Amino acid sequence: MIELVTGFSLRPGTSADIDAIVAVDHAATSYPWTRENFEREFHYQWSKINVLCRAEKIIGFMVYWIIADELQILNLAVHPQSQRHGGAKSLMAYALNEAQKAGCKQAILEVRVSNQPAIALYQAHRFKTSTLRKNYYQNGEDALVMSREM
Ligand SMILES: CC(C)(COP(=O)(O)OP(=O)(O)OC[C@H]1O[C@@H](n2cnc3c(N)ncnc32)[C@H](O)[C@@H]1OP(=O)(O)O)[C@@H](O)C(=O)NCCC(=O)NCCS
Repeated sequence: MIELVTGFSLRPGTSADIDAIVAVDHAATSYPWTRENFEREFHYQWSKINVLCRAEKIIGFMVYWIIADELQILNLAVHPQSQRHGGAKSLMAYALNEAQKAGCKQAILEVRVSNQPAIALYQAHRFKTSTLRKNYYQNGEDALVMSREM
């Protein structure tokens, strides 16, 4: 458990946290993962799931993979009632630091072109758009592939 100056804390998630993680994801986005998506991540040895808490209640999470020398960010959300308090910034900083320690050379993610808050978050962490994937999502929306050197 890491206590953050914002009053939040951060710890590795466990499968006992899935209900709370799913609830945050549903509250935060119109395109949430299924419960099965999260369950699967807990089975992958290379998948990391961190949860962000306030007073021990889960209010955010981040799912990422460290494979070979690459950090792949798969999912990240903060409950709307707790947004704009630096929660996502803390989750990003922690994952980037872990990736650096693991010897990663690159970080990569995909984001909906309409998702301005997330794009701003990633740009603030030095991610740049490398590719546009047309019609990438089920609703036909395009994805930006964003990446950065570590
Ligand atoms: C994107 C998201 C995780 C940001 O969480 P957050 O805890 O509010 O973010 P932070 O408070 O740590 O903000 C960090 C930076 O991100 C950017 N940012 C975050 N929300 C923003 C918004 N609504 N508009 C513009 N920039 C925003 C800013 O650069 C911000 O830094 P600043 O506050 O110093 O300006 C949150 O909006 C969310 O859960 N969205 C729905 C889920 C989602 O889209 N996930 C990404 C999938 S790819």
